[in-house]
Amino acid sequence: MNKQLRKAIIAGNWKMNKTPTETAALIAQLKGAVQNPGCEVVICTPFTSLPCAVEATKGSCLHVGAENVHFEASGAFTGEISAPMLTDLGVEYVIVGHSERRQYFAETDQTVNKRALAALAAGLKVIVCVGESLAQREEGVTEELVRMQVKIALQGVSAEALKNVIIAYEPIWAIGTGRTATADQAQEVCAAIRRVVGELYGQTAADGLTVQYGGSMNAGNAAELLSKPDVDGGLIGGASLKADAFAAIVEAAGK
Ligand code: 13P
Repeated sequence: MNKQLRKAIIAGNWKMNKTPTETAALIAQLKGAVQNPGCEVVICTPFTSLPCAVEATKGSCLHVGAENVHFEASGAFTGEISAPMLTDLGVEYVIVGHSERRQYFAETDQTVNKRALAALAAGLKVIVCVGESLAQREEGVTEELVRMQVKIALQGVSAEALKNVIIAYEPIWAIGTGRTATADQAQEVCAAIRRVVGELYGQTAADGLTVQYGGSMNAGNAAELLSKPDVDGGLIGGASLKADAFAAIVEAAGK
């Protein structure tokens, strides 16, 4: 279980924030604040900001991701965006299965799996989000639930394609609430995620998998969370919208 075997990745999930004009301004600040990071740094922006983000991050250490993707390449799906549309723009990453998508837009483990497969086939790196609600945690089913989410999300994903998969553990009760999971809680579930990936793909693949924690991660708690052996990075909401706070998290991950 060697943390050096895998890439530390700090990704910002901007959610439905920032116009293209505001995106350009925040990226200018981020480029100043985040230099020579000791980890991979990704910003996931709204679709409308992606062209600007790709352009503005050229030649910098910042990588660009989308926050969702449809599973068909094209067709009669009004309002949707496909994986080839993203890669054509120069987008590298995409988040799938965020709990807000599951909760407000009726996404299921099955559609998360379809989105992941489509994104991987198009050459995107995929951040698959999993995590339990407070009620599920209190019922003691966190590990079972997360194992199931991971197994279904990865159905049909080849061992080769798994190299482009990152799994983000985001307990729903910690998202946007200021109530962070303790480092031990994050470690416990991130380790369980690595175990199930090991059962599916073998130990070497599991050792190479980047597992992120997300949920009220900030400049103050990032170092402790990231010090855990199975927490390889973070998926950051609110704190990713402030250049200084995001840069501090990136710094904590690079240590
Ligand atoms: P917060 O960092 O705002 O809690 O959001 C976490 C998240 O949902 C990242 O995807």
